[in-house]
Amino acid sequence: MKRTKIADALRGELVSQEINIKGWVRTKRGNKAVNFIALNDGSTIHNIQIVADLAQFDAALMAQITTGACISVIGKLVESQGSGQSVEVQASAIEIYGTADPTTYPLQKKGHSLEFLREIAHLRPRTNTFGAIYRIRHHMAIAIHTFFHNKGYYYFHAPLITGSDCEGAGQMFQVTTLNQDCPPRTKEGEVDYRKDFFGRHTSLTVSGQLEGEMAAMAMGGIYTFGPTFRAENSNTPRHLAEFWMIEPEVAFLEIEENMDLAEEFIKYCVQWALDNCMDDISFLGDHFDKELVSRLQFVLEKPFVRLSYTEGIRILEEAVKNGTKFEFPIYWGADLASEHERYLVEEHFKTPVIMTDYPKEIKSFYMKLNEDGKTVRGMDVLFPKIGEIIGGSEREADYDKLVARAQEMGVPEKDIWWYLDSRRYGTAPHSGFGLGFERLLLFVTGMSNIRDVIPFPRTPNNAEF
Ligand code: 4AD
Ligand code: MG
Repeated sequence: MKRTKIADALRGELVSQEINIKGWVRTKRGNKAVNFIALNDGSTIHNIQIVADLAQFDAALMAQITTGACISVIGKLVESQGSGQSVEVQASAIEIYGTADPTTYPLQKKGHSLEFLREIAHLRPRTNTFGAIYRIRHHMAIAIHTFFHNKGYYYFHAPLITGSDCEGAGQMFQVTTLNQDCPPRTKEGEVDYRKDFFGRHTSLTVSGQLEGEMAAMAMGGIYTFGPTFRAENSNTPRHLAEFWMIEPEVAFLEIEENMDLAEEFIKYCVQWALDNCMDDISFLGDHFDKELVSRLQFVLEKPFVRLSYTEGIRILEEAVKNGTKFEFPIYWGADLASEHERYLVEEHFKTPVIMTDYPKEIKSFYMKLNEDGKTVRGMDVLFPKIGEIIGGSEREADYDKLVARAQEMGVPEKDIWWYLDSRRYGTAPHSGFGLGFERLLLFVTGMSNIRDVIPFPRTPNNAEF
């Protein structure tokens, strides 16, 4: 018999038909005459109730149906007598696929802490919370592809293994097949990467941007959507060592339109979540963040505030004068910490902010230099609860200026000769940005730790699963 998903059964159109439901037992309760089994198959946050008349079923079989077991049930879908569900299945046959020993199965009682669930990340998809998060994650990925596809931007695949450090931050994971105990050495005694797999020093990418730019300068508009890796040792609720980034890159787009694109993009994703994930969002809102739904609706309503870095620093300095305490000092030239970003967004403007025109020293070499010679056309989108959710810029399109900036920032020309070629041959104004997928998910799910919005998080000292 063909399997019916629980989401489809709950719609009620199949009432009075015989159906086959398969899933994992959430709870079993009942009395001497009848058992009620709450079954979930991941197709929805809602369980379906299976009613088993004990006169019909072997007691030994029923005893094996415990929380976590996987079963297949054939039975008639009927309107439910009890409260709490509209339909239920009157079981006529039950097959057990897999039992779950109640003395060791860790997901027994309700209300496990998120910290505990991180230690059993292999089983946490079976909880309501993580089922909801991973379904929203899926829907957000579909929203992102749909948004760019509808704009005519192509999905472009940048490599994960790279010989260049795009962000110039040097926080990369090395990729090597050399023997770590006695690597080949040059005459000078340094490790000889010419003997390594790729004949050079390579790492996992921190961004697909540089390759994405090459595609934009031929195909017009592209976006990448893939994993990126950063070996920064920041144990914060907003940093992962492996995270997913979406990086659109568009020819003929200048900074203003880049900001428009970023704002339209985030709003589209949030609207998509409200339109397609309400069951899951409501569950997470009820359990973790009572203001979730109103916060999502709120960002759709107003235009984001657009603010220069210089103006932002002025507001923060004013706040300090008026008694606001920050952990990190604030002055023109300082890199903003998350506390500063959140002050602007949550306390001062009470709306998302797009900050632009940063001092060149604190931004990457590829950002377009402003006429003042001091600031670059970078833009960060700052969000409530998150801080920076997007980082991007208009790119330096001028060959000579770009070479000079690379030199100033210590990016070796020999590593980016191919990138520089795009400015030697048919250069054009272009812009792009990177959205941290998990930061978007933090916002949309209302969760407060980034380890809870990616299935198997990689953070310092943590790569178990
Ligand atoms: O600001 P970032 O470093 O920008 C870039 O990588 C550019 N190449 C993007 C571009 O212009 N194409 O990173 C972009 C975004 C950040 O705003 C943040 O949302 C996310 O990526 N991000 C992280 N997310 C989780 N864990 C980390 N360690 C992250 N580092 C950055
Ligand atoms: Mg950034």
